[in-house]
Amino acid sequence: MAGRIPQSFINDLIDRLDIVDVVERRMTLKKTGKNYSGLCPFHDEKTPSFSVSPDKQFFHCFGCQESGTALSFVMKFDRLEFVEAVEQIAGDLGLEVPREKSIGFSKPADPGLYDILQRAERYFRHALRDATTAVQYLKDRGLTGEIARDFGIGYAPEGWQNLEENLDGITQQQLLDAGLAITNDTGRTYDRFRDRVMFPIKDTRGRVIGFGGRTMVSGDGPKYLNSPETEVFHKGNELYGLYEARKALRRIDRLIVVEGYMDVVALAQFGVANVVATLGTASGTPHFQKLYRYSDEVVCCFDGDQAGRQAAWKALENALPTLNENRQLKFVFLDEGQDPDSLIREQGKEAFVKLVANAQGAMDLLFKRLGSGLDLTSIDGQARFAGLAAPYVEKLSPGVLRTLVEQRVAETAGLKRPLATGPERRRVEPTTEIGLDKVSERLLTLLLKYPIFWSELDQKLRQDVLEVSAVESVFGEILRYVGLNESVDTEELLIRFGDDSRWDRSLTGLAERQLEIGREELSKEFPEICALFVRNLRARERKSNLQNLKESPNIDGLRKFLADRER
Ligand code: UTP
Ligand code: MN
Repeated sequence: MAGRIPQSFINDLIDRLDIVDVVERRMTLKKTGKNYSGLCPFHDEKTPSFSVSPDKQFFHCFGCQESGTALSFVMKFDRLEFVEAVEQIAGDLGLEVPREKSIGFSKPADPGLYDILQRAERYFRHALRDATTAVQYLKDRGLTGEIARDFGIGYAPEGWQNLEENLDGITQQQLLDAGLAITNDTGRTYDRFRDRVMFPIKDTRGRVIGFGGRTMVSGDGPKYLNSPETEVFHKGNELYGLYEARKALRRIDRLIVVEGYMDVVALAQFGVANVVATLGTASGTPHFQKLYRYSDEVVCCFDGDQAGRQAAWKALENALPTLNENRQLKFVFLDEGQDPDSLIREQGKEAFVKLVANAQGAMDLLFKRLGSGLDLTSIDGQARFAGLAAPYVEKLSPGVLRTLVEQRVAETAGLKRPLATGPERRRVEPTTEIGLDKVSERLLTLLLKYPIFWSELDQKLRQDVLEVSAVESVFGEILRYVGLNESVDTEELLIRFGDDSRWDRSLTGLAERQLEIGREELSKEFPEICALFVRNLRARERKSNLQNLKESPNIDGLRKFLADRER
């Protein structure tokens, strides 16, 4: 991973930004009184309900309720991720983005890693030209030269030292860092990919970050060999084909998720370009966060067998925290022994498109599965259903979708009113008796578990927390990040901050802590904890100011002390 962008730089950048400026670069705004308005870029409308406030440095759409800061506007409008948006905005302002040295156990990022991977990709592509067996293999699988070129498909020849011999001035260490070489027990370093058809994996900016290599000989090691995790390649975040899909399509109305490299390539060849694949891993929450940045509809395409159904269920669970009323998730189950590649080749594009159009909705699947085997006309069955559904409902963010699902659960369970989710217990009343550490710990725990609470907090309280937390650096950074990045989840926070050696507590430990009360209750507790946190820190500050004042009396200090006392 490249070093982190220093928080001070992000703060500076935000201070310098004018949201009106940022938005106006991308759409037309009209001054209306104190604010600016225009046609909302995030939903279809004929009369403007999109408003930008220069005072609050905030945008809001009264039509679709989309809102946020300049940074979140750029993320949403340009369909960028957080870091990319920071880079984009900095670029607009002509600023270079500085990077911190990596912390913890990770090695410092090698700036040449992308370069090495790109050179390797070029080498594999050239090598394919003379590789008659590999070319024949691709032909036999029905690939055209054109589609092979679009996806940069190549060939890693037989032999152990091809890369070192063919990439000028490359070191073994660089090849190891790039995941292109392996060292064995005797310390010998050799090429990881040998005699394999190579699929380059690119990030959303088109940089090569890893490879998948398919053997052409059955029984010769794993069918697909993938790059290991490296500084630039994180399987849990990446999607094969996303760059190519964005390049091919101006607008992506729907993204189809399949299981294999070949499926992506074959579908693209048949004119279905809006397809991506996970890289031999389950579809995780970070995948869905990424997918929904590019499209509001995601259709997962799985095998119809037991394993496929299991994978779909896992994907659904992981997707829940990212869903809302604007985002759709659907599932297609293929017949046993069929995959999208074989299906489209045997039955053609129309058959595949039809399957996708008739995909099953995620909530439909959820209710079917939860209710399966239960007698929903009996009280026992209904109670069991409500119990089974609760943890899933709890994963949804508060909003229209969640309310609808809660209602439907209530109906199915024969209740008049939705149950409060989570185990019902008496709330632990926070009191001033809890020491500062307990309060900050609690605040951090709640924030890590439910980052969404932060954006639901009253604006004034948010400002106060930010103001006092400057002295508690553990919060400042996380709060800023959560504030700028509304869709962030626990996992992302832990990835970003979890291994930072500056934190004296284990964030993972806090995030995994079992809480005695449910989310509903916690969301009520959160503002109280925040208020308590502010109060405690202000009290502590006053105390130390008073101490200073006693030690070295001065009029400014006294004024400040008196003014603070008014707050
Ligand atoms: P499949 O076994 O379904 O293969 O693996 P496939 O995609 O249909 O490939 P072809 O058509 O036989 O060439 C699906 C995905 O799982 C990962 C790869 O990402 C593959 O595309 N996989 C599979 C591995 O990483 N390693 C393996 O050994 C097998
Ligand atoms: Mn296949």
